[in-house]
Amino acid sequence: MRIVKYICSVILLVTSLSYVNAEERIVTMSAPNSLIASGFFDYIIPRFKLKTQISVKLVSDSAMIAISKNSGRAFLKMGDIVFKIDVIEENNYSQKFLNWLKSDVGKKTISSIQENDEPVFVSLEMEEVAIRQVRLSGDAKLGLEQSQQKCARCHVVEKGRKNSIGSTPSFFALRTFDDWDLRFSGFYLLRPHPAFTIIPDVTEPFDDSRPAPIVPIELNLNELQAIIAYVQNIPPADLGEPVKHQ
Ligand code: HEC
Repeated sequence: MRIVKYICSVILLVTSLSYVNAEERIVTMSAPNSLIASGFFDYIIPRFKLKTQISVKLVSDSAMIAISKNSGRAFLKMGDIVFKIDVIEENNYSQKFLNWLKSDVGKKTISSIQENDEPVFVSLEMEEVAIRQVRLSGDAKLGLEQSQQKCARCHVVEKGRKNSIGSTPSFFALRTFDDWDLRFSGFYLLRPHPAFTIIPDVTEPFDDSRPAPIVPIELNLNELQAIIAYVQNIPPADLGEPVKHQ
């Protein structure tokens, strides 16, 4: 189990590095001729690329995203015609495109396609698909519990919780850093934590003359590992959007 998890995290690391280096950031798409002929793509592709540095390539088959009149989630109306979208291959790029379509910027871009001062297209609210269940491994479950007990005093550690200290970054925000795992594995060295964190056999005892300013938190390396397993599974906050505290 350990080994598998280790390999997974290495693969994750390698793929995330290759995103950075990848020359080709492309999402492939198939669409009905009527939509292609309307000029929709000519208009949105450069704007999407400008925003995300991802190119859209129209292909006739094996597309990551299939737009059609009959399959998937309704997202766009042109006159009486409703177009639907189906994500065939879920990856970073297809997800970015979908998010862009749902975003205010995307919707505004679409409604700015006009003919005789009238918008040609109407964006439709997309139904949410069933939320992908993140299955927590035993460790990640323990990690959530540990985060709730030991970090949630200051950090938002799960969805739907208020942050008790507004300026403290949420775990979702911290998860966006490329080196989030390094930061978490050494969090006890990073301020403000050294002043109140005890990891037996790892941290130095507090200086008697400067006792912890708050009730100290104590955890062991196994529990820290579990917290990292938990954080690995949470979605990074959406970059570009302010971090939401709900
Ligand atoms: C008493 C409040 C408090 C508690 C409890 C706390 N943190 Fe933090 N943490 C902070 C603050 C404040 C920051 C932001 C520091 C900064 O930006 O300079 C922070 C930042 C971090 C960072 C980013 C550090 C960096 O410099 O990149 C990590 C990782 C982190 N915390 C992990 C944890 C974990 C894991 C726990 C629980 C085991 C925890 N924290 C408990 C207050 C807290």
